[in-house]
Amino acid sequence: MNIKIAPSILSADFANLQRDIARISTADYVHVDVMDGIFVPNISIGLPVVRAIRPTTQLPLDVHLMIVQPARYAAQFCDAGADIVTCHVEADTPENIRLAIETIHARGKRAGIVLKPNTRAEAALPFLEDVELILVMTVEPGFGGQKFMPDMMDKVRTLRRWIDARNPACELEVDGGIDPATAPVAVEAGANVLVAGSAVYGAADIPARIAALRGC
Ligand code: DX5
Ligand code: ZN
Repeated sequence: MNIKIAPSILSADFANLQRDIARISTADYVHVDVMDGIFVPNISIGLPVVRAIRPTTQLPLDVHLMIVQPARYAAQFCDAGADIVTCHVEADTPENIRLAIETIHARGKRAGIVLKPNTRAEAALPFLEDVELILVMTVEPGFGGQKFMPDMMDKVRTLRRWIDARNPACELEVDGGIDPATAPVAVEAGANVLVAGSAVYGAADIPARIAALRGC
């Protein structure tokens, strides 16, 4: 499988975002963690930052919305320059998550759903045929630098089976605690997009670390 790497700029230097995004030019996506202080305890970055970084890179922006009621902001994140917008299934009713997906598609962008560690794979089923990406959290969302949860791999395996059967073009992404030791575990379980924050930005040689995560 063709493995994609999505470095999370949560671990970048926010005073030097343009420089730190240039440093990951060999990656596949720029992963942007948006946190509202309600859905998760932390507050990170929002629309103005997505807008500001958009012209600094040719890489697609993979915007991970850790916010309540994501349908309220889905269109604005698309217009700010997001290429992929992912919404947590826990963040609203299924009807409103569907509305968010439709809003993202209406803007011509890719839509995804995200599952927290305690959310079962079945929560993805109502959306399986309607999204371009499913993100399985391998840590509790909210903070970088946490430990990978290997017990999420059953969920990844289940989703990989369902995706292959029902929506093979859909990407399967993992996020949290991915490093050169855990990346092969996630890939073996069926993930094809790996988010990595501290493992990328903590590396002395970032392109080499991205290549190592990709397995080449
Ligand atoms: C956590 C974020 C992650 C985070 C990953 O809520 O969604 O994207 O930046 O950081 P690492 O790779 O350090 O676990
Ligand atoms: Zn994330």
